Amino acid sequence: MTAQRTVYVNGTFVAESEAGVSIFDSALMFGDVVFETIRTFNGQPFRLRDHIERLYIGLRTLEIDCGLTAAEMEAATLQTIERNQLCFADGLDFQIVHNVSRGPLAFYHSVFADGLQPTVTINCWPLTWHLAALVDAYVSGVHAVIPSQRAVPARLIDPKIKNRSRIYYQIANLQAHKVDPQAWALLLDEDGFLTEGTGSNFFLVKENRLLTPEPRNILRGITRQAVLELAERLELPCQECNLEPYDVMTADEAFFTSTPFSIMPATRFNGHAINTGAPGPLTLRLMAAWNQMVEVDMVAQARAYAEMVAVNS
Ligand SMILES: Cc1ncc(COP(=O)(O)O)c(C=O)c1O
Repeated sequence: MTAQRTVYVNGTFVAESEAGVSIFDSALMFGDVVFETIRTFNGQPFRLRDHIERLYIGLRTLEIDCGLTAAEMEAATLQTIERNQLCFADGLDFQIVHNVSRGPLAFYHSVFADGLQPTVTINCWPLTWHLAALVDAYVSGVHAVIPSQRAVPARLIDPKIKNRSRIYYQIANLQAHKVDPQAWALLLDEDGFLTEGTGSNFFLVKENRLLTPEPRNILRGITRQAVLELAERLELPCQECNLEPYDVMTADEAFFTSTPFSIMPATRFNGHAINTGAPGPLTLRLMAAWNQMVEVDMVAQARAYAEMVAVNS
């Protein structure tokens, strides 16, 4: 029998099918929940401490006392990974997702005989399908499309807090997919400057310089930070600055970054080719340096996962 994944729910481990959140939870009522998505490379979580720190900045900002210190959350995360290790034998990598809310609203206290408590869940999920679907995208690059939906500015809801109040990302995806079902939405802020994707950060290359939006109206991605560090190591000049759609139209190269896929070339923008319409040399150099750093060839991994998915379907 194959091992079954289990989910950490408020200190106990339950089967995925049993893991749930009350309909009275503030998460459902207000989208009042912070979260993290971490991934493993060769079974080891990447920059776990940075993710936990970001989670706790969100918890502090939203005044959610989840009942665990950051060190206890890290220990619970490692325990969740260990409990699920057997499900990811054969070197399969997976993501680890935290969802933390303040729990059911006090108004509904009579429903909860044991009293109200925050909701803390941690689950592991294979990256197989997610990455398998990206094989062609890694090779040919993705189509970045600016939807009419704008990013919510930090003065309204701060995107630096990784929260689930993100219906505007969903609307942005729906709009971008009307242009091209495969498009990746790239949102502008209220002043018309580039911000980020709906689950990723964005970079341009112009005259051998890496350019990325200022860390103002965006989630400060951990992959983004790692890419900035890699670029420094490779002595590639980098700048965080205000960028406009014009800058994408005239870019030499572009790419998205995010935890599950690391670096993804963008080769088209609003229906136009970016430069030659192929992943550029600097993007490929960063991807190679990334692979070396994490000791996983991302494209080969996506290919291997695609073959696994094909065999099992
Ligand atoms: C809106 C948004 N921006 C950027 C990112 C990339 O962040 P990270 O590199 O930490 O995964 C994410 C990741 O989910 C995101 O949701």
